[in-house]
Amino acid sequence: MSDFDRNVSMCASRSGPLRGTVEVPGDKSISHRSLILGALTVGETTIEGLLEGQDVLDTAEAMRAFGATVARDDVGKWSVSGVGVGGFAEPEYVINCGNSGTAVRLIMGAMATTPITATFQGDRSLNERPMGRVIDPLTLFGARCVARSNQKLPITISGATEPMPVHYTTPIPSAQIKSAVLLAGLNAPGQTTVIEPRMSRDHTERMLRLFGVQIDEQNTDQGRAVSLVGQPELQPQEIVVPRDPSSAAFPICAALIIPDSYVVVPGLCVNPTRSGLLLTLQEMGADLCIEDERDECGEIVADIHVRYTSDLRGVTVPPERVVCMIDEYPILSVVAAFAKGRTEMSGVGELRVKESDRLAAMTQVLQACGVDVADGPDWWHIDGVGPGAVSGGMMCHSYLDHRIAMSCLVMGLASQNPITVDDVAPISTSFPGFVRLMRDLGADIQEVNS
Ligand code: S3P
Repeated sequence: MSDFDRNVSMCASRSGPLRGTVEVPGDKSISHRSLILGALTVGETTIEGLLEGQDVLDTAEAMRAFGATVARDDVGKWSVSGVGVGGFAEPEYVINCGNSGTAVRLIMGAMATTPITATFQGDRSLNERPMGRVIDPLTLFGARCVARSNQKLPITISGATEPMPVHYTTPIPSAQIKSAVLLAGLNAPGQTTVIEPRMSRDHTERMLRLFGVQIDEQNTDQGRAVSLVGQPELQPQEIVVPRDPSSAAFPICAALIIPDSYVVVPGLCVNPTRSGLLLTLQEMGADLCIEDERDECGEIVADIHVRYTSDLRGVTVPPERVVCMIDEYPILSVVAAFAKGRTEMSGVGELRVKESDRLAAMTQVLQACGVDVADGPDWWHIDGVGPGAVSGGMMCHSYLDHRIAMSCLVMGLASQNPITVDDVAPISTSFPGFVRLMRDLGADIQEVNS
């Protein structure tokens, strides 16, 4: 369901105030998990607000390949009739996870303890991303994994015939690694424990609890330990997916740098493992209110009100915050460019192995727009030039990375000269309707005729 059926270039120009209520699509992480857990449950799980971005559609297609029935009704409600824990069938064709690291890593985990064989591949971006981080723990369960050199996709996994529960400490805090281990542990008899050095997004734990699995959490000397006992029977659920904070970050940050803007985002997921950006923006002086916090399907949801202020200042973002705002650094770098003073970020090396090397991509764009930026393997400094002072006037590459494409377009909305993005098609992986939604708020984003 891509918004664009070919490579399309788009140009963002200086815009008047952004105003309105933004209905950002459903959270991508929660959408993937609701399809996967629905597929591992006997009975019908329904999902409202599922993100219909290509990444999630690829997961839906994968769940069909493993034997689940996945359908969408006329009003956009999805249903998954699952096969139960350990019930995955062997796919008849290669599982194509497109651009999605979450899809491939979580699904590899979910099938690794079932005695079937599946081959996974991705697009040019995903096929270059590191997979050893999930191959290592899955091998401990007894799965056999054959990958391209450097443990890259395409990868074939033969799931363990007699899976063993695992006690695994992740080398890096990553919700994808943690979730792959927990999903594999579902079909291993006995207790599986995963320890992460810092708490990463906990949607898998929350959703497993919702489906009736007992999850134990404990703080240990090595970090946070999460355990489950394998072979539970999951109970079908009626899931409502909250709006995605990583997508909302774009209209929120645009409102912060375009004079006189006022934007409201209702029903946003403000799970503390995801809300590092909101905290950082508040520390920068943003006029940002989080109202009416409530619980929906085990997740915390709130309404966000954001108003332009000319008083944004650079801050130091502590390394322990990286994990709860990992996907928001590209758009934070744009806000930092329009702030006064230096923004210092450390512990950000993981940004180099996302859909693109996000540090390199944004550093190049910001420097070309007249902003002083320095980066190292694991750190990033941006010297803000202040409101309205970013020059713009350039063509950016999106490098098959939705968040780079959207960050550059948002920057163009507040820069002195327009910014063109060479290929905006990747935006549909996570935020279908982004351009229309931004235009409805007042953004000037136009297609460029080649
Ligand atoms: C995700 C986890 C994060 C994030 C990705 C989605 C998830 O990756 O960057 O976009 O849904 O688990 P890591 O956990 O590998 O940092």
